[in-house]
Amino acid sequence: MKGVATLNVPSYVKHQKLIDWVAEVAALTQPDQIYWCDGSEEEYDRLCAGMVAAGTLKKLNPAKRKNSYLACSDPSDVARVEDRTYICSKNKEDAGPTNNWMDPAEMRKTLQPLFTGCMKGRTMYVVPFSMGPLGSPIAHIGVELSDSPYVAINMRIMTRMGKGVFDVLGANGDFVPCVHTVGKPLQAGEKDVAWPCNSTKYIVHYPETREIWSFGSGYGGNALLGKKCFALRIASTMGRDQNWLAEHMLILGVTSPEGKKYHVAAAFPSACGKTNFAMLIPPQGFQGWKVTTIGDDIAWIKPRKDPVTGQTRLFAINPEAGYFGVAPGTNTLTNANCMSSLNENVIFTNVALTDDGDVWWEGMTEKAPDHLIDWQGKDWTPADGAAGRKASHPNARFTVAATNNPVIDPEWNNPDGVAIDAFIFGGRRSTTVPLVTEARNWVEGVYMASTMGSETTAAAAGQQGVVRRDPFAMLPFAGYNMSDYFQHWLNMGKKLEAEGAKLPSIYCVNWFRKDENGKFVWPGYGENMRVLAWMLERIEGKASGQENIFGTTPTHKDINWSGLNFSEAQFNQVTSIDKAAWQEEMKLHDQLFDQLSYHLPKELVETKKSLEARLAN
Ligand code: OXD
Ligand code: MN
Repeated sequence: MKGVATLNVPSYVKHQKLIDWVAEVAALTQPDQIYWCDGSEEEYDRLCAGMVAAGTLKKLNPAKRKNSYLACSDPSDVARVEDRTYICSKNKEDAGPTNNWMDPAEMRKTLQPLFTGCMKGRTMYVVPFSMGPLGSPIAHIGVELSDSPYVAINMRIMTRMGKGVFDVLGANGDFVPCVHTVGKPLQAGEKDVAWPCNSTKYIVHYPETREIWSFGSGYGGNALLGKKCFALRIASTMGRDQNWLAEHMLILGVTSPEGKKYHVAAAFPSACGKTNFAMLIPPQGFQGWKVTTIGDDIAWIKPRKDPVTGQTRLFAINPEAGYFGVAPGTNTLTNANCMSSLNENVIFTNVALTDDGDVWWEGMTEKAPDHLIDWQGKDWTPADGAAGRKASHPNARFTVAATNNPVIDPEWNNPDGVAIDAFIFGGRRSTTVPLVTEARNWVEGVYMASTMGSETTAAAAGQQGVVRRDPFAMLPFAGYNMSDYFQHWLNMGKKLEAEGAKLPSIYCVNWFRKDENGKFVWPGYGENMRVLAWMLERIEGKASGQENIFGTTPTHKDINWSGLNFSEAQFNQVTSIDKAAWQEEMKLHDQLFDQLSYHLPKELVETKKSLEARLAN
């Protein structure tokens, strides 16, 4: 048919419903060509070479960064767009007060003209991907149709992308359909730009039909739809319906000197050192301890009987296969493991280019190079830096395979997942919240996670130092009503406890308390191992602690201080509980609970009352 691209379905694709959907989206978006990604290295190299020719990528000096590229985005397309992100459930209440909502029929009507002909002059890439090891009982499959080759190559790193997905899908397997366009059709003969995008943006989720439609952005979580859109927003609704959890959590393996292995999952909002914690290097005095990474951002967690003990436990996988991390601030002192992950096979986005064809970002070295090309393609010298102009964008990123990580956990690819021993929830708080608190029970842990907050930083935009409530670090990622999400956690706990399951312990941490001069008191980074070791010893019933209003905290003598001078007075500064500050804090919890009053679980209201009663004594 004239004007309609041929489907080019590879012979190994047997899934008629998928083929029909590709045809339907092609008829709507009218690409010039359709290309099915097989996920091979040859394909990756070919797509990269095409983007180098088009000016989207620069190949870095192979003597400095082997097989690596730099992409610089349009200055208007540099981050996730939370205000353009929608949860289009049938009922507004099901999206809840923390999500943007539009009626699904209304949204489809809005998107129809935008998607009509949106891929003209471009190739539509069919990107099959598995979130989690192929065929894992915890994994799920998605297919992204995108007119961005940058998306296709990033998806190859970030997910298990390619041909093998069709073997798992067979003729009838379930998949989440994801449609993405940069929203910039090309007229006949029109020359493309290096980073096409559109000033109109929509990141849309239909939780009931489990679809994702993304228009107008080529950047990160807006465009790599396996990550936040599928693995958190859509997956959280799947988890609610199917009795599992999709969480904004890193996953660590921790091995003691005796060789006992533990697994912890930890949720932190942006700018709380999540990547550093995911690649933690044990400090002086912790010889023999080993910390390994299973995941750096997202965990999918399903209950299952432990084949050894017969007891039900929560098993987690990292649904991703790569890291899409923030580059600025990363250096060999704060995260040597991350830096060595970035030696080769990396896609950098919005960092600066050095004169010898390497990359640089703020915080990478103490002294900036004498000359750079900044992320917007302009000359840059340290004088520009002194005048406040950054060489790399604060949200500049690297995309790298998890296997580049020198401390990757041997179990990271285990389709059965790893049994979780502890959940950790943390935010950035300069006051009030102590270094570490162990919840006395599951409900109290859910309360801690529901009410957690974090101070905004310059990089996260908006006012600095304002506490934003970020329940479970899921505020921008919960695909349904936040109160129902709390209820789901409570229900899971109750059901598992009734079955005699071994539930993980729950901890709340804060590495960021400051002294009266505004200086951080806790040294953080690798020293966080001391807190982690206390948690694991608690799980073994070996470490003591003292009960306070909110849970159990260690005293100075309960922590292993070998190799670090940290006085009891300093320790008290990071663990003290200021009753007046907590009375103010509880008012903020009130505000959150007022906002979330629809379906707010009564268990959380009761927990709040009992904490307040303790506080009043
Ligand atoms: C991320 C985020 O990029 O949480 O992972 O914003
Ligand atoms: Mn994240």
